[in-house]
This record gives sequence, structure tokens and C-alpha cells, in this order.
Amino acid sequence: MILPGDGIGPEIVEQAVAVLEAADKKFNLGLSFEQGLIGGASIDAHGEPLTDAQLAAAGECDAVLLGAVGGPKWDTLEREIRPEKGLLKIRSKLGLYANLRPAILYPQLADASSLKPEVVSGLDILIVRELTGGIYFGEPRGIRTLENGEKQGFNTYVYSESEIERIARTAFEAAQKRGGKLCSVDKANVLEVTVLWREVLDRLAPEYPDVELSHMYVDNAAMQLVRAPKQFDVMVTGNMFGDILSDAAAMLTGSIGMLPSASLNESGFGLYEPCHGSAPDIAGQGIANPLATILSAAMMLRYSLDMGEAADAIEQAVSKVLDEGLRTADIHTEGCKKVSTAEMGAAVVAAF
Ligand code: NAI
Ligand code: MG
Repeated sequence: MILPGDGIGPEIVEQAVAVLEAADKKFNLGLSFEQGLIGGASIDAHGEPLTDAQLAAAGECDAVLLGAVGGPKWDTLEREIRPEKGLLKIRSKLGLYANLRPAILYPQLADASSLKPEVVSGLDILIVRELTGGIYFGEPRGIRTLENGEKQGFNTYVYSESEIERIARTAFEAAQKRGGKLCSVDKANVLEVTVLWREVLDRLAPEYPDVELSHMYVDNAAMQLVRAPKQFDVMVTGNMFGDILSDAAAMLTGSIGMLPSASLNESGFGLYEPCHGSAPDIAGQGIANPLATILSAAMMLRYSLDMGEAADAIEQAVSKVLDEGLRTADIHTEGCKKVSTAEMGAAVVAAF
């Protein structure tokens, strides 16, 4: 299922679909696509950010590739029918609890990072973020008026053992396949929820003797990410800390326009999307970077469709166009060739 969404969503998704079609042809994958609506596009058509029919249709596919949702046009709507609600709905209703966000610095883009080359060159970390629980979903929540007339906002931070265990297993397994190091990030010195988080990780650790588990407080983790990010291999954390840390990690790699993500459920079904939003400031100009979405499509082939060879080929094609010096505006540096969204997509197709 293809859900382009809003803003630059349709522009970047179009390029990712072209790349998938090229991979399909080359590797005989037998892919077929359905298109649907989410976010503002769905609000305009149906009055809600994700209809139940659309949700059901997405759930019947093998995977979902999504662009991004949201934009100023819908900013004044009430929270319940805002575009972002469509994303939260698909993530929670399809049980997509494991959000995998790789932060990889392509050597060709070393000067695009905000950190010194020696601190970031070769950076390759994976942040595993719990996506369907924690403070973003906890009840009760709201804004209430106290007896003295003062307003009070409140949210609930809650994780059950089983929720922690399943995301921990995802992270341990990912670490096994990568560098064998797992850092669990919490705030166990202050928050009871994360005391339990830490206990569950420690209980599971003996089942993964080939993984070296460590724990870090989130404030220190934020500091270490910008001080010495290469110390990390896989990081696992809850929904809110993961949201923040993965955006910070994103910037180490130069542009959020390069970063893919996968959100998986227990059966391996996944939603794949770039880490960035709908970039209303550049929408419609044909200058958005489609690589995060193209790399998300590669993750889709690898994690949900068991087509690892085609996924590798897409990633190699992306690397090749970067070698050739092609850059969209967000990653452009002197001496490189500035290209449009469509030109970048076409170059990846041509690099197969
Ligand atoms: P954003 O990620 O859309 O944009 C931040 C900055 O990065 C902007 O300057 C934008 O031009 C640039 N940027 C983002 N993607 C790019 C790409 N592929 N190529 C080149 N430059 C790119 O975040 P922002 O501005 O905070 O939010 C804009 C809208 O997107 C809001 O309505 C927000 O709610 C929504 N949003 C949606 C997300 C999603 O669909 N998963 C995630 C984050 C935000
Ligand atoms: Mg975010």
C-alpha cells in the first residue's frame, strides 16, 4: 500500500515507487501497488485523517510505504482530526511497536554533518524506539481546571512488562545481526517506569550472550550522541526519548532527507517512511530529497518482503549516485551537481 500523504509526500513517494518498479523489473519481485489517502489528503476527501476502510486495506497488504503528513492548511483543526492523528492511528491499530531508525553517515556526505569528520566518519547506528506505548498513548491525559481555577495539563507515562520485553527482543536481535552492542536508554534515577524497563532488559540479557548490554540515562545519552556518537551500535528506548534522540542522531548524518525508518509489528508487517515530515516550506518546488523514502523502500523489501538482494541493490544505487556527485539542495555542497527530486530519483533508477 502506497500512502503519499501531504506536502512533499507525493513528490518523494513517486520517486520511491519508480525505484521499486525498477527493482521489480530487475529482480522479478512480482510487486503490485495500491494507492491510498492519509493525513490532510484524507481529511480533504473524507473529513478524517485515516478512514477505517483505508486502515483495513493497508492491513491487508504486505507492507505500507508512506510519505509524510501534515501542513499549515490543517494546523487549526482540533487535535482529534489533525493529519498526525492518522499516523498515530495506523501505528497503534496495526500494532507497529518497533520503530527502527538507522542513522548512517554516507562517507560522500561527511561535510554535511554538523560534527567534525573525525567524530562522525563511518557513523552507523540503529535506534530502536518503542512506538505504541509510553507517554504518547498513556491514559488519563488532558487539560483540566483545578478548584482554584488554574488549568493543569497531564499525561500518563506507562509501560507494561510485555511491552518492554517485545521491544527489547527486537533490539537484542538487531544487535546480534550488527555490532553486538546494545545500549538501553532510560531515566531510571527519576522515573519508576524506566526502573522496570531496566529490570526487563537485564532479565533478558542472558538469553543474548553475544550482545553486550549497557544502560545510560537519557540526558547523558543525548550528550554522548553529540560528543562521541560512534560509541553506539544499537540503542533501545521508549517512545518519547526515542523520538528526541533519533532526531538528534538524524542531524549527525547531515540531513533528515537521508534517513529512512521502519515500524514493525509482531508478524513482520511494517510501515516504512522517511524520518522527516511533509516539509511544507519546500513542497511543490520539486527540490525535496527523495533518498530517505527510497531507502525506506529498501528497508521494506528487506524486513517485510524478504527481498534482501533487491534492498542491497537499491542502497548501492543510492551510494553510487552520491559518488557521482548528485545532490538535492538539502545536501548540496560546493563542487557537487545540484539536482531536483525527479532527477535524483531517475539517477537512482539509472544506477541499477
Ligand atoms: P519537516 O521534517 O517537515 O521539515 C523540517 C525541515 O527539514 C524543513 O526545513 C524541511 O524543508 C526540511 N526537510 C524535511 N524533509 C526534507 C527532504 N526530504 N528534503 C529536503 N529537505 C527536507 O518538519 P516540520 O517542519 O517540523 O513539520 C512540517 C509538517 O510535517 C508539520 O505539519 C508536521 O506536523 C509534519 N510532520 C510529519 C511527520 C510525519 O509524517 N511522519 C513527522 C514530522 C513532522
Ligand atoms: Mg519526531
